[in-house]
Amino acid sequence: MSKPLTIADLKTRARRRVPKMFFDYADSGAWTEGTYRANEEDFAKVKLRQRVLVDMTNRSLATTMVGQEASMPVALAPTGLCGMQHPDGEMLAAKAAEEFGVPFTLSTMSICSIEDVASVTSKPFWFQLYVMKDREFVANLIDRAKAAKCSALVLTLDLQILGQRHKDLRNGLSAPPKWTIHHGLQLATKPFWCMDMLRTKRRGFGNIVGHAKNVSDLSSLSSWTAEQFDPQLSWKDVAWIKERWGGKLILKGILDEEDARSAAETGADAIIVSNHGGRQLDGAMSSISMLSKIVDAVGDRIEVHFDGGIRSGQDVLKAVALGARGTYIGRPYLYGLGAMGKPGVTAALEIIRRELDITMALCGKRDIQAVDSSVLADVRF
Ligand SMILES: Cc1cc2nc3c(=O)[nH]c(=O)nc-3n(C[C@H](O)[C@H](O)[C@H](O)COP(=O)(O)O)c2cc1C
Repeated sequence: MSKPLTIADLKTRARRRVPKMFFDYADSGAWTEGTYRANEEDFAKVKLRQRVLVDMTNRSLATTMVGQEASMPVALAPTGLCGMQHPDGEMLAAKAAEEFGVPFTLSTMSICSIEDVASVTSKPFWFQLYVMKDREFVANLIDRAKAAKCSALVLTLDLQILGQRHKDLRNGLSAPPKWTIHHGLQLATKPFWCMDMLRTKRRGFGNIVGHAKNVSDLSSLSSWTAEQFDPQLSWKDVAWIKERWGGKLILKGILDEEDARSAAETGADAIIVSNHGGRQLDGAMSSISMLSKIVDAVGDRIEVHFDGGIRSGQDVLKAVALGARGTYIGRPYLYGLGAMGKPGVTAALEIIRRELDITMALCGKRDIQAVDSSVLADVRF
């Protein structure tokens, strides 16, 4: 099989290997998927300035995100059920990220647990927290992330209730899951995935089962999950979590200047301009179209990160040019993982690094930390 050249190549391969319900879970947005599509499409509206006859030798993509070194300004975003794209997916992705020198963020709703990921990595990873109504469970999760020496907590703010994703509902990927003959057929057409999955014991929510009260099997887990996201989450809770955690704190899911100002006041270390990859409020603005407005509002007070719609290194450069200190990729690495396991995650990172490096050079820059809006042509948001 030829080497994948683009993230789209990885997506094609993932579609072939991963059962439809789990592939769709990654490749889906809320309702009409308008915001999901806009996240990708709006990048094409940002144009680059072609420069010539500038020295392009000795280029560097290295940077820091919340003070921690990264070989390029890209981290792996937290994604739930990552271990359903590929068995032990979170452990494989974390190892790939560690070898590549970029941060890996483990989701609360992961298949492999915090302890599983810690057992296969030697450098600290980041942990993403969903705030559940059961605050004792939340406090315990924070303590487990501390014990695993996670070096940043990513607190997700944009999922107090779950957005409606039609593909998931049609596929019966809901809480509780509705198992039908279609699932059997979907699995039957993906024998390699099934054989791999039989080799692992990790098939439930590793951070929850055995830790949350009254959750022992899949059906109690499903109802617990459905009920537990806290619709009353408030800025006061952020203060409590910040204090309990005591380390680097990143607030994820900011898409509005007013919210960005409130976030900056919390004393957190960074915000992520994000609409959850178009999976929550359909009809919201694309992430990239809001980035420079939010940077203008709070960029002098708090580090601004970005995610949503990045499918190439060019997109990373555009986000950095519009003021993001760092970016995150979700689906690009999930497609790599689904397609090929750990080498697929590495392939996704390599694709993005190569594109970022070449684009930066052709825009006349040698150091990612010197990239600013001067690399952009005048057509922009
Ligand atoms: C399959 C999938 C699962 C996700 N699960 C989570 C999650 O558990 N926690 C979270 O904060 N964000 C989650 N997200 C959102 C990502 O962290 C990130 O914001 C988004 O994927 C960025 O957009 P991109 O996929 O276009 O790169 C998920 C995204 C996807 C695609």
